[in-house]
Amino acid sequence: MMHLPPLHCASTLGELPAFDETVGSETPGEEVARRLRSREELPGVMVTHEGHLAGVISRRGFLETMSQRYGLEIYLQRPVRMLLEALPTPPLRLPAELSVHHAAARALERPEAELYEPVAVDSGGRPRLVDVHTLLRAQSRILELAHAETARALDELRDTQEDLLEARKMAALGQLVAGIAHEINTPVGVSLTAATHWREEAARLRSAFEGGGLKRSELKRFLSHGDESAGLVITNLQRAAELIRGFKQVAVDQSVETRRPFKLRSYLKTVLHSLRPRLKQTPHVVEVECPKRLTLDSYPGALWQVITNLTINALTHAFEEGAKGLVRIDVHERDERVLIDFRDNGRGVPKAHQERLFEPFFTTRRGRGGTGLGLHITYNLVTRRLGGEIHCESPTPAGPGTRFLIDIPAVAPDADRSTT
Ligand SMILES: Nc1ncnc2c1ncn2[C@@H]1O[C@H](COP(=O)(O)OP(=O)(O)OP(=O)(O)O)[C@@H](O)[C@H]1O
Ligand SMILES: [Mg+2]
Repeated sequence: MMHLPPLHCASTLGELPAFDETVGSETPGEEVARRLRSREELPGVMVTHEGHLAGVISRRGFLETMSQRYGLEIYLQRPVRMLLEALPTPPLRLPAELSVHHAAARALERPEAELYEPVAVDSGGRPRLVDVHTLLRAQSRILELAHAETARALDELRDTQEDLLEARKMAALGQLVAGIAHEINTPVGVSLTAATHWREEAARLRSAFEGGGLKRSELKRFLSHGDESAGLVITNLQRAAELIRGFKQVAVDQSVETRRPFKLRSYLKTVLHSLRPRLKQTPHVVEVECPKRLTLDSYPGALWQVITNLTINALTHAFEEGAKGLVRIDVHERDERVLIDFRDNGRGVPKAHQERLFEPFFTTRRGRGGTGLGLHITYNLVTRRLGGEIHCESPTPAGPGTRFLIDIPAVAPDADRSTT
């Protein structure tokens, strides 16, 4: 068996082992027999006439013709030109630059009777013969290589996708941190102002007291101011503490994907709090309507990502420049299921895009910050982690815009570790 050289997916016909055994058209047939005998691996002999390739006498063709009645007597002593005439078709000629892959395909397209004939390879005007068996072995080697390469590329793609998902998670957490900072700023700021004001009052009171001129009415005023300030400080710090607690829970939900019972309404509010810095940069409004007592036993972290993705999508994609958009989240309870109706009154999603919306990497903002992973992740979270369904409608029954209908069980199914 011919030894194959090292190959790669784009190897060409010219790289394969080839033979240039040639005889002139007037040479007696005997000479072909001698050549074929002396080199066992030779697939055939080329016949030239006036410097051009006139044909190929393959080993198989030669043996067949010789085994015909009187074959030996007729052909051995006569010029090979006659032998060529007895062989039906001219050889398949292919350029050396043709890829092995395409060459093999061309070789296999031949009629069955010619399938095993060698292929004449043209390179720089000098044809050479390649055994078809060698060609097919090279082809199968290349298919193996291509297969391995595809598997490797797929692995790489998976890694990249995981990295992207991880990056998104980090970005989401970053957003959360920004949200916390922003939200906490207000109550802490108010407390600080109140406390500062109270300290000034106290300083004034002390100097009046030390000067011996403290009036009863001044003391009374200080005490009532003090009450007020303390009240402000306490409520605002409580508010801050509450926000921190909410965010801390969200951060934990995000990072460890905890399952726990939680009140949907206050959770949605926390999610929207975390998005406030983003919202504040836009003229749009987000409204939430949710039954107060509705409790889910589910994965709040997943829900947080879903609502965050949909809200940011609405803010990014839905509204025309200068428009004042409305995003509404309506939650309904039905039996043991929860229906989240998430919609905007923006430009909507064209019919042609609707079926591709949840595909990974589908985005209309490529190169402008869109990865096209948001809705894909959302889809996976809803269907796998939360055990529900999500559909998109555009326009919505209420008019133009986009609507995402999320239907999830109030009690999520058991964890499926394949979920991203
Ligand atoms: N509310 C919406 N209104 C109009 N088009 C939308 C809306 N939500 C999503 N789309 C369309 O769906 C596409 C896919 O959304 P997806 O969240 O998967 O990716 P993206 O937002 O483009 O990128 P990324 O989420 O990575 O930033 C968007 O590019 C946009 O064309
Ligand atoms: Mg998005």
